[in-house]
Amino acid sequence: MCGIVGYIGTQTAVSILLGGLERLEYRGYDSAGIATIDEGILRCVRAKGKLYNLREKLEHDVNPARIGIGHTRWATHGKPEEHNAHPHRDNDGSVAVVQNGIVENYQSLREELIAKGHIFRSETDTEVIPHLISEYLPEEGDDSDGLLNAVTKAVNRLEGAFALAIIGVDYPDELIVVRQNAPIIIGFGQGEFFCASDVTALIPHTHAILYLENGEIARLTPLGAEIYDFKGKRLRKTPKILDWSHSTVEKQGYRHFMLKEIHEQPDVVRLCLDTYLQLGWNSENGKNVNPIKLNLPETFYENLEYVQILACGTSWHASLIGKYLIEQLAGIPTLVQYASEFRYAPSPILPNTITIGVTQSGETADTLAALETEKYRRVGLEDKYRARILGITNRPESTLANMVDEIINTQAGIEVGVAATKSFTAQLIGFYLLALDLAYRRRGLSLQRLEELIEGLKALPGQIETLLEGQAKSIEELTHEFNDTQDFIFVGRGINFPIALEGALKLKEISYIHAEGYPAGELKHGPIALLDAKVPVIAIAMPGKVYDKVLSNAQEAKARDARLLGVVVDNDRAAAEVFDNLLYVPQVDEILSPILSVIPLQLLSYHIAAKRGLDVDQPRNLAKSVTVE
Ligand code: F6R
Repeated sequence: MCGIVGYIGTQTAVSILLGGLERLEYRGYDSAGIATIDEGILRCVRAKGKLYNLREKLEHDVNPARIGIGHTRWATHGKPEEHNAHPHRDNDGSVAVVQNGIVENYQSLREELIAKGHIFRSETDTEVIPHLISEYLPEEGDDSDGLLNAVTKAVNRLEGAFALAIIGVDYPDELIVVRQNAPIIIGFGQGEFFCASDVTALIPHTHAILYLENGEIARLTPLGAEIYDFKGKRLRKTPKILDWSHSTVEKQGYRHFMLKEIHEQPDVVRLCLDTYLQLGWNSENGKNVNPIKLNLPETFYENLEYVQILACGTSWHASLIGKYLIEQLAGIPTLVQYASEFRYAPSPILPNTITIGVTQSGETADTLAALETEKYRRVGLEDKYRARILGITNRPESTLANMVDEIINTQAGIEVGVAATKSFTAQLIGFYLLALDLAYRRRGLSLQRLEELIEGLKALPGQIETLLEGQAKSIEELTHEFNDTQDFIFVGRGINFPIALEGALKLKEISYIHAEGYPAGELKHGPIALLDAKVPVIAIAMPGKVYDKVLSNAQEAKARDARLLGVVVDNDRAAAEVFDNLLYVPQVDEILSPILSVIPLQLLSYHIAAKRGLDVDQPRNLAKSVTVE
């Protein structure tokens, strides 16, 4: 969603702002703008559409300003037009504001300000903020705390979730940054400070980062950073040093981030396993040692009866597989809910429950709000109902990580492509580890089976490499046959049903082709009516409990003239008889197979979209970090 960058220091602000906004492009946006102050003039330039439109407007304008704010906007209130793009200004253009979030009481504030003579030029909620700040500014700009005080008064009147960066023409040495339920960070450089909605914008400039917390305001000047609460009390804070490397936000020779991230999956799986597997657990000395070291406190497991998982989108698909694993391996009843639904219709409070929030960005508004709901409805209840909240994420610095009791860091790092790939497989590994941890503690599996599964997990990175080397080319070639295809059906059963959902989601989000995922056995209960020679069916047919059933469901589709593609294991002769095209993965235990079966589907979606010349990394209407509800 919207991206924010701010700068104050000794370098030219415009190039830093544009560079930062480019690194935030992946979040999704439909207009962009910057505001700077130089020689007593506040200049604001905005453009609809992609950043190159903004760059073009700035091309012939030499602007040596050393302070500025920038924004990429993903429209919520008001169409994606230039007049709605940020920054927004007050009546006389002396205060400029960029916002990520939603000011819920903007209508009443707008009416109040209009009555006082303020003129509004956009339909956005954000525009009330500069007008409100200007109401509180001292008549003369000679009060050194004037901007900070005015912002403090203004933000106390705003309701909703917002992150702000603000500059004022009478305060050319101050950049004010505010956080209330929407993420924003401060970067510390040498004689310079940055702010951004996401660490990716700052990686090339600094690794010293301060995460503002809710209800905090930062005043950045070339001389230092001061942090206050909304009452104006000064706070003491220390930045952290992050170890993200610059290369995580570079394409490194790949045509798209998505393709790079698909190829990063072996390393991500390896790193996650290395982090949480206990070496030597099955050696002579290691007998009776838990093979998994998630480092969760023992109180988390006490009398555990239920697991409840909250997530959205692809993370919800990973959670469905998590449910399968926790129930089938550890025998613990598990609920999975869309976070956006749970907020307004939470299931009854269960005792002795671990609640898990799953999110790659760590910032999805619905997931965070659902977890808050869960946390607060348990406050004051007897001990067996106390909240035990766990996050599964690749962003250990995110809002999620700061609000939950514990996290499993899936080690996938930053994912730039909007379509989740490596973050999904990493979430799955997180769930395998958790399910095996719980199974070990409950003695739900024999040691032999545990060992088999752990050895199977350790083999996965090499198997993904083999799959990528062996299949990438043939899958790319296969996509030529779908130039005009408008609908796809994906089917799977058991642990691979969520992979059918994920395959369909990947395809529709980046190629804009209509696709549906179904449990294979449900095909005949309705969706089969959609099938004809123009609708290919992709079945995930991994050897195991449901293999024969999937093949017979696939036959039902074939009998309706559908073209059949099968995701199958190497050397599956029976499958070769049934399917028109085969997407092979290495031989694998059924329960581990989703980690492999999803990869041909990721590649298929990628190549179909890339071949259609679509913007794979930033598909239309989508955002990487969905910070609105
Ligand atoms: C799909 C995708 C989205 C996200 C969803 C939740 O490729 O990326 O469906 O999975 O927006 O996002 P997170 O995981 O950040 O909570």
